[in-house]
Amino acid sequence: MRLRGPAHRKQRYLVGAAALALIVLALVRLGASSPRMAEITLLGAGVLVAYALGYFLQRKARRVSLRRRLRVAGLGAVVVAGLLLALAWNARRRGEVAFPLVGGGLAACAAVHLLGQALARRRRSRPRRPARESALAHKYLDGLRGVEIGGSIHNPFGLNTLNADYTASTDTVFKQAEIEITGKALPVDIVASGDELPLGTESVDFVVSSHVLEHLPDPIKALREWYRVVRPGGYVFMIVPHKERTFDRDRPRTALAELIHRHETGECPDTKEHCSVWITEDVVELVRHLNYPIVEVQDVDDKVGNGFTVVIQKDARAETP
Ligand SMILES: C[S@@+](CC[C@H](N)C(=O)[O-])C[C@H]1O[C@@H](n2cnc3c(N)ncnc32)[C@H](O)[C@@H]1O
Repeated sequence: MRLRGPAHRKQRYLVGAAALALIVLALVRLGASSPRMAEITLLGAGVLVAYALGYFLQRKARRVSLRRRLRVAGLGAVVVAGLLLALAWNARRRGEVAFPLVGGGLAACAAVHLLGQALARRRRSRPRRPARESALAHKYLDGLRGVEIGGSIHNPFGLNTLNADYTASTDTVFKQAEIEITGKALPVDIVASGDELPLGTESVDFVVSSHVLEHLPDPIKALREWYRVVRPGGYVFMIVPHKERTFDRDRPRTALAELIHRHETGECPDTKEHCSVWITEDVVELVRHLNYPIVEVQDVDDKVGNGFTVVIQKDARAETP
């Protein structure tokens, strides 16, 4: 059984807590067998708790302030140090040296680990500046009202848009990444799949998207939907990752024939990776296949720069099928 991803967080904590309880129980039983074993048990339990607490603090780093995490870590470190002193004092009474030294070393490591964990995530998750806006998007879309599909706070367009996404939950990898990068996430105004928008035909001036089309299993359906909701003379503006400039570089390109097959049969890839992998010419070919007028193509997008941009302008006299 795999317990990966945000959806399984609760189960992961439960499994972790149960495992910890079992280990502590085993140690307590072991400790009851002799006073010496009781000391070892105490030390083991202390180190274990320090490591579990450190892991927990690191996981919570995004939501809990550094001061609070340091307070908890400090308290844990004091408990571990107290344990060490008690053990050393006890061992000295028996005239032993090695035991408190080894135990002390372990306990000190656990205390340092605890403080380190409390600090670690903070450094990595310090808010970064959002990506630059696209001059090309401003050129076509300023002064208009539209919809962004799958918007994010760290890669904003700075346009007048509502944000449509398939979920309003902040538990998705995408939203967690936003929170990780900037400390917050862009709210979702319209909860809907990007290829089934609850919007009237020709009801918006534009649809804009960045790094979204490749996530949709049937891009033809999505493009038809975006074209449908745009008014005549309006725009579909999309930035799509270029396979050679992303982690998709070793994957084969997705052919137009495959996209047509997906659209006609409903057979779509069931994958956690990008559903489609393209270079600029592939998406231009797809748009031409749909007979949508392209007004501009930017082979390296002027936003993050790892994709390309295709701008469609709906024919002013077009009738949406
Ligand atoms: C890789 S992120 C891109 C975020 C942002 N546009 C950017 O360029 O940084 C993909 C976005 O598309 C959204 N998304 C994925 N599948 C979707 C779907 N079927 N319908 C609507 N949005 C979807 C995700 O929730 C996420 O917000």
